[in-house]
Amino acid sequence: MNWYSNAIFYELYLRAYADGNGDGHGDFAGLRQKLDYLQWLGVDCIWLLPYYPSPLRDDGYDIASFFGINPTFGFLEDFRITVEEIHRRGMRIIADMVVNHTSDQHPWFIEARRSKDSATRDYYVWSPNDDLYREARIIFLDTETSNWAYDEHTGEYYWHRFYRSQPDLNYDNPKVRAAMLEIVQFWMDMGLDGFRVDAVPYLFEREGTNCENLPETHGFLRELRQVVDERYPGAVLLGEANQWPQDLIPYFGDDDEFHMCFHFPVMPRLYMALARQDRSSVVDILEQTPPIPPNAQWATFLRNHDELTLEMVTEEDRQFMWEYYAPDPKQRLNLGIRRRLAPLMENDQRKIELMHSMLFTLPGVPVLYYGDEIGMGDNVELFDRNGVRTPMQWTPGENAGFSQTHPSNLYAPVINDPIYGYKTVNVLNQQAARDSLLHRVRQMISTRKSLPILAQGRLEWLDELPPEALCFWRTTVGERFLALHNLSDEPFDLYLPPGYTYTDTFNPEADPIDHTITLPAYGYRWLMAE
Ligand code: GLC
Repeated sequence: MNWYSNAIFYELYLRAYADGNGDGHGDFAGLRQKLDYLQWLGVDCIWLLPYYPSPLRDDGYDIASFFGINPTFGFLEDFRITVEEIHRRGMRIIADMVVNHTSDQHPWFIEARRSKDSATRDYYVWSPNDDLYREARIIFLDTETSNWAYDEHTGEYYWHRFYRSQPDLNYDNPKVRAAMLEIVQFWMDMGLDGFRVDAVPYLFEREGTNCENLPETHGFLRELRQVVDERYPGAVLLGEANQWPQDLIPYFGDDDEFHMCFHFPVMPRLYMALARQDRSSVVDILEQTPPIPPNAQWATFLRNHDELTLEMVTEEDRQFMWEYYAPDPKQRLNLGIRRRLAPLMENDQRKIELMHSMLFTLPGVPVLYYGDEIGMGDNVELFDRNGVRTPMQWTPGENAGFSQTHPSNLYAPVINDPIYGYKTVNVLNQQAARDSLLHRVRQMISTRKSLPILAQGRLEWLDELPPEALCFWRTTVGERFLALHNLSDEPFDLYLPPGYTYTDTFNPEADPIDHTITLPAYGYRWLMAE
């Protein structure tokens, strides 16, 4: 089995995690101090948000140089030592690679906008007018009104799928493609175990299409995979393509594009199922998901550093989700919800655990988002997605133990409200309390890892059950695992499929369970059947 199939991924934003040098911004030195924690939690692979030099107008997804480290985060040497320390603990590390665009502060773009015949003009996508590619949607709907921005100096428009400060690279230019492959190799040679490849559907543009998922884009991704497979066997490429299942499948290729892709459509449906106390949205989307190549894996998640995207749901379901989970317009952003997991679950530990249980038992490799393991809150007063990127809450002490600086120097205020504030919600307190969310998540992680059937098993639904029961088998030759979830706020009795004896995987010493089980409100059970 591939290492990633049974791994637990953990996404973290360096700036938000731990400040090692006391300037109010997290950094590599801070992260190194927290590696013991990540190992204790059971994390196998850290995914780092971009750490490259950047004006941080999109938190580093606007790269100004591909070959360095943002000085607030440390130096190249820091990076190298951190990677070494991670490997020494038996963990791995992947990093974001932003392939679609650069910052407008990147020397390529600075040079490109100098004149129409500058050496790097053709690294970007220019047009004398803004008529082309009208069918391409605007992604940052709340900020941008067009995918074209006018450049006064040269009197032409340049193409950007995200902020106007992030000009799209021109993948029709072979120099751009070659440069990107070189960048990838530079970082792999520095010790990375792979990449989360950002915003992949948008690499090429073609008139008369929506400029997403084009065959040319897949062609480049196959080239990328080939370089990685040939030179760095065992590395993983994880694709960020926010698409419907039928458009996602081609990103695995024939086991020759991504090793892993995020399953974007299933994520909002886990929330929908819970809100409606009805499993059908989850069942439907997984039934519509075609099989993937033998070495491929889905990456699944509950939350990440972006808004909880509602792009991959129907208009009706989006309205439902907004009304249910983001009643205050401030909680909405673009086509999504800018809140964290715990507040979405009204801080009800039963519901937070239930969501994790679904994440850990359904097919896919779980990707956790920093802070969700302790139930951190969010701050909608902060701009854009910053409210879900606040400092990690380590202790009830000053600055939540994140930094020793004066609070006014923090890159963002720590969450400090009575419910989710760092005085209550922090790692230290939860490590001390045996029944805390943190301990429960840690237990689920270690149990999941002891059950390879959860990485490989086939999914079979138990469908003769009331709608609030989300129950399924995972099966391999000779083994059966049964996951039971109660999506409702009322307990119910369940008759287990006959012919087996069941062992509770969280409590294997307890007496085997026979026929009936009572699932409390929002309860869940993980059973091995024999
Ligand atoms: C991806 C990232 C997001 C970023 C965007 C542009 O969607 O997840 O944070 O803003 O790409 O790079």
